[in-house]
Amino acid sequence: MKNYVSIYDIENIEQTVQEAIELKKNPFQFEKLGNHKTLVMLFFNASLRTRLSTEKAAKNLGMEVMILNVNDTWNLEYEDGTVMDLNTAEHIKEAAQVISQYTDIIAVRAFPSLIDKEKDESEYVIKNFVKYATVPIVNMESATAHPLQALADAITIEELKRTTKPKVVLSWAPHPKALPQAVANSFVNMMKELDVEFLITHPKGYELNPKITKDVTINYDQEEALLNADFVYTKNWSSYHDYGKVLTKDANWMLTKEKIGNANFMHCLPVRRNVVVEDAVLDSENSVVIQQANNRTFAAQVVLKNILKTLQWKH
Ligand code: CP
Repeated sequence: MKNYVSIYDIENIEQTVQEAIELKKNPFQFEKLGNHKTLVMLFFNASLRTRLSTEKAAKNLGMEVMILNVNDTWNLEYEDGTVMDLNTAEHIKEAAQVISQYTDIIAVRAFPSLIDKEKDESEYVIKNFVKYATVPIVNMESATAHPLQALADAITIEELKRTTKPKVVLSWAPHPKALPQAVANSFVNMMKELDVEFLITHPKGYELNPKITKDVTINYDQEEALLNADFVYTKNWSSYHDYGKVLTKDANWMLTKEKIGNANFMHCLPVRRNVVVEDAVLDSENSVVIQQANNRTFAAQVVLKNILKTLQWKH
């Protein structure tokens, strides 16, 4: 694996999920692989799980970790040929090359603006790091994708499934703020790769990028969609078509104990209690969100391990 920018950078998802499950049993199995290797994590946006789980994963592999909150430094310039006489202090061309000299892998978190759809969809931050860095890049959630989360989600489903082809439902939930589509996008892409019966339910107007949901069943009736589900993944996202807008906060879309039945409840976290999902679900045995968050470590670890192996092979 050269970079991990999207789930499509995984050569064999089934095998990678099994590798992660094995790593979970023995996290220090490859503790020498990362000796004298460094991971730099760049955060343009805040994080709890991604930051700690990725650092833990790197340390399990024997790596050193350096973290920079980029917004505490200065704004980077991404355009070519710009006269930099406004508020950007350094061009990505220098920044990415300089950082590459201090590290063996760079991980980047950079959320979308949710204002300029075309710019967000260009994934200019992560793509410019891939273009100008001289070391591999890991996506810790970009404008349109959260592939580490999706891998952790796949691991969780594999660990908990009780049938060979479980029914998995992605159910939109209300939220007071406009949130990115990244988690939902990567989850949809991941479910298309797994042997699951998958469908999405959301109010009209919340359709995701049709290129991503092509061939996926969308049911606007939440109750019908959730019927006999094995896994219900609840997540808010803002409108893709009316880009970045909150079209409704309809509390009827909140996930309740009555609606979920016996299904496992999944959410990437952080989650707003009694807005996205009611306490009775989150505090029940159906909730697997803590296990799901734990799997973030092993998703990151399997990704870093496979990148480190490529680096070792090169040397
Ligand atoms: N799920 C997730 O990415 O959590 P953080 O935003 O806390 O990293």
